[in-house]
Amino acid sequence: MIETVHVPLGERAYDVRIGPGLLERAGAEVAPLLHRPRVWVVTDATVGPLHLDTLRAGLAPQGITLEALTLPAGEATKSWPHFETCVDWLLEQRVERRDIVIALGGGVIGDLVGFAAAVLRRGVRFVQIPTSLLAQVDSSVGGKTGINSVHGKNLIGAFHQPSLVLADTALLGTLPRRDLLAGYGEVVKYGLLGDAAFFDWLEVHGPKLADGDMADRIAAVRRSVEMKAEIVVRDETEQGDRALLNLGHTFCHALEKATGYSDRLLHGEGVAIGCALAFELSSRLGLCSQEAPSRVRAHLKDMGMRCDLADIPGDLPGAEALVDLMGQDKKVLDGKIRFILARGIGDAFVTSEVPCDEVLRLLNDGLTGR
Ligand code: GLY
Repeated sequence: MIETVHVPLGERAYDVRIGPGLLERAGAEVAPLLHRPRVWVVTDATVGPLHLDTLRAGLAPQGITLEALTLPAGEATKSWPHFETCVDWLLEQRVERRDIVIALGGGVIGDLVGFAAAVLRRGVRFVQIPTSLLAQVDSSVGGKTGINSVHGKNLIGAFHQPSLVLADTALLGTLPRRDLLAGYGEVVKYGLLGDAAFFDWLEVHGPKLADGDMADRIAAVRRSVEMKAEIVVRDETEQGDRALLNLGHTFCHALEKATGYSDRLLHGEGVAIGCALAFELSSRLGLCSQEAPSRVRAHLKDMGMRCDLADIPGDLPGAEALVDLMGQDKKVLDGKIRFILARGIGDAFVTSEVPCDEVLRLLNDGLTGR
C-alpha cells in the first residue's frame, strides 16, 4: 500500500513515500541515507508525545538511535528565537555535514527545520516526516523552507530540498477534524489550479476521505504530490509557473496577518477562502463562468469548510487595509501584486494585471456579507 512519487531534480532528486505504517519502518527507509547510525529529530510538543516513540522504535531494527528536540507547537515557533534554539541544539549535538536531521511535524516544524538544515554548516541533509495533511500534500515537498518575520509570513528562508519525505497517511488519523479539513484546502487547490478531473474526483471522494477512507487519503495525497512535483521540477525557485501553487495564497497571507496568525484562521482555511475569492474575482473579470466560483464554494461548504470572509470569527480590517497587507506578499513584482486567477476549474494562470478597484469591491462585498 506504499506508493512512491519521485521528484526528479538531478543531484537533488528524492522520493516521496506515501502510505500507512511508514513511521514503523522508518529505519529501513532512512538507513540508505546514513553514514553513521544516528539521527537528530526536531518535533513539537503536540506531535512529539504522539509519534516520537513510534519513530524511535521504527529506527531501532536498523540500529539507528535518535536524539530529539521538542519545540512549542504553533505558528509562533516559526520565528528567529526558536530557529536559533534549533540551530544551536544541532551544533551542540555536533551534527556533521553528512548527517541527517529529521523534521517530525506539520508545516511549521518542516519549514523551520528545513531552514535550519539549509544554513547549518552551510547545508546538511534532512528528511521530512510530515504529520499533518497540509504538510503531506504541500509544505514537505518542493524545498521551500523558512520562518516568519514581523513584516509577514515566510519572508526569511531558503530553497533546500529534503533527501526523502515519508508521508505516513496513518498519522492523519490523529489529527483534529479542523486541522484535517484545513489541510484539505491545499488538496482542493491542486484540482482547482491544474486538474479538473481531480476536482471532479474530490467532489465525490472528499467526504469519504475526511471520514477516514485510507485508499482515498492515499490517492489524494499521491495526486497532490505528483502535481506539486511536476510544477517544482519545471520551476524549482519560483521564477514562473511555481507561483501557480500559490492559488488563494495572496488573499490567505493577508487574512492570516490580519488575524495575527492565530486560531481564528488556520493556514489551510485561509487557502480555501482565498481560492473561493480568486475564482469569484476571475468570474467578475469575465475570465471564467459564474458557475466555477459557485462550484468551488459548494464543494467547500459540502466538506463543512469555511469559504467566505464572513466565516472568519471576529473583526477584520477594511478592504483597503487588506489590500495593503497583500502588498507585503513575496509575489509582489515591481510593486504590482501578482494574483493567481483562473479561466475555469483546473486552468489557473499568474497575472499582475488586476484592477485594484475590482479587488477592493470584491473584498468590500465579502466583508459586508453580500
Ligand atoms: N507552497 C507553495 C510552494 O511550495 O511553492
